[in-house]
Amino acid sequence: MLSEKMKKALNEQVTAEFYSAWYYLSMAVWAAKENFDGTYNFMAKQAKEEEEHAMKFIKYILDSGGEVELGEVNKPPKDFSSLKDVFAKALAHEKYVTNLIKKLVELAYEEKDYTTLGFLQWFLEEQVEEESTMSSIHAKLEMVGESRNGLFMIDSHLGQR
Ligand code: FEO
Repeated sequence: MLSEKMKKALNEQVTAEFYSAWYYLSMAVWAAKENFDGTYNFMAKQAKEEEEHAMKFIKYILDSGGEVELGEVNKPPKDFSSLKDVFAKALAHEKYVTNLIKKLVELAYEEKDYTTLGFLQWFLEEQVEEESTMSSIHAKLEMVGESRNGLFMIDSHLGQR
């Protein structure tokens, strides 16, 4: 049984996960426009994963007997200055999401909601992985700078996701 506070916070996370999907889809669309087909593929898959995160929260709220209330998903930015800019923003976004998950964990502690604490464990680990992925791609982009060859190689590699 979820407390009112917990239920509200979990519902807000559903919206945040859908926003993440929307944001990554926007990055995918930008990449396609700039002929970074590999990045398009990578970000489109990332968007799908974010939808799956949202669905996990939805299923958990429902299974716990709570009502799901879908919120409004904001319009994501659509302009990026470079591939490096895309991944810098993706990394910053994942750090932001990690904070959101940590706040949910803190609330679950306050509410002595040990079941939700257990449920959130998977997300804590997922955030470590997602931050690490975005950070490593960003670091590689730093490495190649403006090199067309370098960008081509990284983009091709991202297409293999
Ligand atoms: Fe749903 Fe990328 O965290």
